Amino acid sequence: MTVGLIVLCTILAILLIAFCTWFLAMKADGKCPLCILKAIGTKKLHIDLKDVPDYDNNVSVSPMMGWSSWNTLRNKISEDSIYETAQVLVNTGLADAGYRFVNIDDCWQSSMRDEAGKLQGDLETFPSGMEALCKRINALGLKMGLYSSNGTHTCEDLPASLGNEELDARTIASWGVEYLKYDFCHHKTLSGSTPIIEYIDLNRKGYHSEYVLKPEMAKFTGRTKVVKCKDLPSGKGIGFLNHGAGTATFRISVEAGGLYAMTIHSKKNLLNAKRYLQVLVNGNLYEAHFPSGRSFTPDARLQLEIRLQSGENTITLCNPIASMADSSYTQYKRMGEALRRASRDWAAFTGTPEKPITFSICEWGFGNPWNWGAKAGNMWRTTLDIFPNWKSIVHIYNRTIKLYRHASPGHVNDPDMLEVGNGKLTFEENRAHFALWCMMAAPLVLGNDIRLLEDGSPKSMDILSILTNKSLILIDQDPMVRPAKRIKKQGSIDVLARPLANGDTALCFFNKANKVKPIELDIDSLKEEKYLRFNRSGIGYEVHDLWTDERYQATKITASVPPHGVKVYRISR
Ligand code: GAL
Repeated sequence: MTVGLIVLCTILAILLIAFCTWFLAMKADGKCPLCILKAIGTKKLHIDLKDVPDYDNNVSVSPMMGWSSWNTLRNKISEDSIYETAQVLVNTGLADAGYRFVNIDDCWQSSMRDEAGKLQGDLETFPSGMEALCKRINALGLKMGLYSSNGTHTCEDLPASLGNEELDARTIASWGVEYLKYDFCHHKTLSGSTPIIEYIDLNRKGYHSEYVLKPEMAKFTGRTKVVKCKDLPSGKGIGFLNHGAGTATFRISVEAGGLYAMTIHSKKNLLNAKRYLQVLVNGNLYEAHFPSGRSFTPDARLQLEIRLQSGENTITLCNPIASMADSSYTQYKRMGEALRRASRDWAAFTGTPEKPITFSICEWGFGNPWNWGAKAGNMWRTTLDIFPNWKSIVHIYNRTIKLYRHASPGHVNDPDMLEVGNGKLTFEENRAHFALWCMMAAPLVLGNDIRLLEDGSPKSMDILSILTNKSLILIDQDPMVRPAKRIKKQGSIDVLARPLANGDTALCFFNKANKVKPIELDIDSLKEEKYLRFNRSGIGYEVHDLWTDERYQATKITASVPPHGVKVYRISR
């Protein structure tokens, strides 16, 4: 007992000493130790988005519809297979039904950037180049989409866009691309750590130091303050900028506006880790990435090129990164903004109408992107990849149906591309998968090899009839973009409903069981669910069964729901 107590006390004492040592080391390195502790919940977003407007790039308010090469063709793609598929979209009537994007997923890129550092199509499989392919796809009345990753490489280890966001955005905009899926492979989380900033020097090219920003000239918020630092020549600098601890703001008046070199003098790393700082110049974001390593001298310099206006300027230093969610938001926002600028600037440069680029955040739901996706892009994946089996579809549905509040016109949850027609999914499972995606206001991106649908077989006809069901597509594309809420669970049946722009309601019974299940619903009971704003009354409602196309008057809906199947209705008065 006593021995146990001694051991316990010793362990606690060691932990306490370790904690105090760490705490003091952090303080000596100009870090707010308490703020570092925030980083423990990696999914929590600490950046305040209250005043950040939603991502607005003039794309359609309804979820995007198209086809993607990934689910079936994977890395076996070429300009021929992509163009053939585009032609099939037109020939089969899928394009008329709304599927207009031809999205080339991973593996379109050459492993070499070109001599100007730009991404280029694989030189063997896309020999005519991506711009030429885009033009041919456009000539069919369709739009072309591409893929990159928010990391050094894509998931198939080809070159991706981290550090090249502006260039890659400009490159794809110049090709006429109208969709970018931006993956999460090989990503590098931004550091919440920031070095002590000794001072900042500003000068135009060809001039010596013109303006110097010293710590004592700054106004601080939060815990940010001037700290002592014996390693730096001046003995002090701005500390406690890490993990959203606070900000330092300078106001500076300059005579000549224009481009300035900003030299940030800072203390090198104590812990051999990367560090990060955001510099907001009159509201425009510049990012400083400090390399790891300490080397011979303790003081470092890092340069950014910034734009100052003649007269008053505000320069704010901060590091809002406290979690993986903060890092993901910042990096996806960076690409989203680069794309908006790129399509706008390309249109201005060429004098052609702007082709806005739908920005698809593929972060697999790791940093809860539904909390920030609408500020950074048009759609965000809610989970890891879909597979052509029932378990995968139900798993993704279960995760995504809960996120119904996180969608608005132009911003939707993305439960991944469709597997309709793939694997061993049964007819009812294919129907259920499609209807659930429509109920959830999901992007409808075909993931099957649609070239096979031209064989005229009964199976192909079934798949085509599912994918082109106009009434269901109308539900998916409803401009109010209010995804279905699960309003009730009755045994194995989920009851889903979503309000529609014209005041109608879409209703779906989803049976997860392996047996047929009966259900009855009193339509007036929908009034109890505030989200539906179902305030109609009368002696009856018009019920439209969206699979059988039957229409009837009723006050109650009675149905037998097939195993792994759905019944879907549009209810109007
Ligand atoms: C995954 C992504 C898939 C597909 C694939 C390509 O990360 O979720 O949808 O794009 O990469 O390598």
